Amino acid sequence: MNDLDALLTQATADFAAAPTAAELENAKARFLGKAGRVTELLKGLGKLGVDEKKTRGAEINQLKARIESALNARREALAAAELEAQLEAQALDVTLPGRARGMGGLHPVSRAIERIEAIFGSMGFDVAEGPEIETDWMSFTALNNPENHPARSMQDTFYVDMKDAEGLWLNLRPHTSPMQVRYAKAHAARHAGADPMPEIRVIAPGRTYRVDSDATHSPMFHQCEGLWIGEHISFKDLKVVFTDFLRRFFEDDGIETRFRPSYFPFTEPSAEIDMAFGSGPLKGKWLELAGSGQVHPNVVRNYGLDPERYIGFAFGMGPDRLAMLRYGVSDLRMFFENDLRFLYQFR
Ligand code: DAH
Repeated sequence: MNDLDALLTQATADFAAAPTAAELENAKARFLGKAGRVTELLKGLGKLGVDEKKTRGAEINQLKARIESALNARREALAAAELEAQLEAQALDVTLPGRARGMGGLHPVSRAIERIEAIFGSMGFDVAEGPEIETDWMSFTALNNPENHPARSMQDTFYVDMKDAEGLWLNLRPHTSPMQVRYAKAHAARHAGADPMPEIRVIAPGRTYRVDSDATHSPMFHQCEGLWIGEHISFKDLKVVFTDFLRRFFEDDGIETRFRPSYFPFTEPSAEIDMAFGSGPLKGKWLELAGSGQVHPNVVRNYGLDPERYIGFAFGMGPDRLAMLRYGVSDLRMFFENDLRFLYQFR
């Protein structure tokens, strides 16, 4: 074995003995570095004659190439071993049982609203949604509640110091009643020229806002508006529809309703609807559930309809209240605290 072969053997052995990439680089320096053995050999060429320099030079270059390829082979082997070790350390045991996330469910208020929609839907009512940021005109004025009228304080709301594109003041709607006007106007426009106009039958559930907060009031709460307008719709229809709705909602055919005279600017006459269960722990106790009434002629006019011809009723109820009664919840705030221990009971 000549000196060059011995050097290759030694380099290969040193590389193989280097356990890490850093130590491999040290071994490389011993052979290929500035003061390394191969470099020294190349420097020694200067002392040789021309012919000898040529053969010896070619041999040393060949040696250098072999050492480099031994080095690369070892580098790759180390990298592969490192990757292997890493994979092993991070190995996933795919046979381990997963960590289950609890199944979600509908919020009790959403459930109540779905029930309301299904029952009124079966009676031919459409379901409409409207904006929560509403104009002052829709929230009050169109509902026969003029600016600066004290009746506005019945629905004290959050006023927004901003106007819409048409210059109307904005607020967070304090009730769903503006949806009467939005829906009826669109309906009247869609059926302009139809004689008679097809009846308006709609409910509009959604979020509403008021400056109010205690066990039975939350600054954000839900309402569901109802509206039925036609040529011959009377209070009698309201009584039948609403009583039937309650009996189906609570699955209690013994439910009785009572209409108590009241005041709302947008209805005349107006009534609070009370109900009493026919069975269960609250049997016979009167509970206030909704405001209602025959829609005021000024409001019918704001729908774009002739109040001499079209007449009907409206009501506004609280799905939160209905959900509390149906599910036996005593504090309204529980609905909005998002405590999973409470919510999981409704899955
Ligand atoms: N908007 C009323 C409120 O929030 C409730 C109401 C009463 C709605 C009478 C109606 C109605 O549609 O006819 O207090």
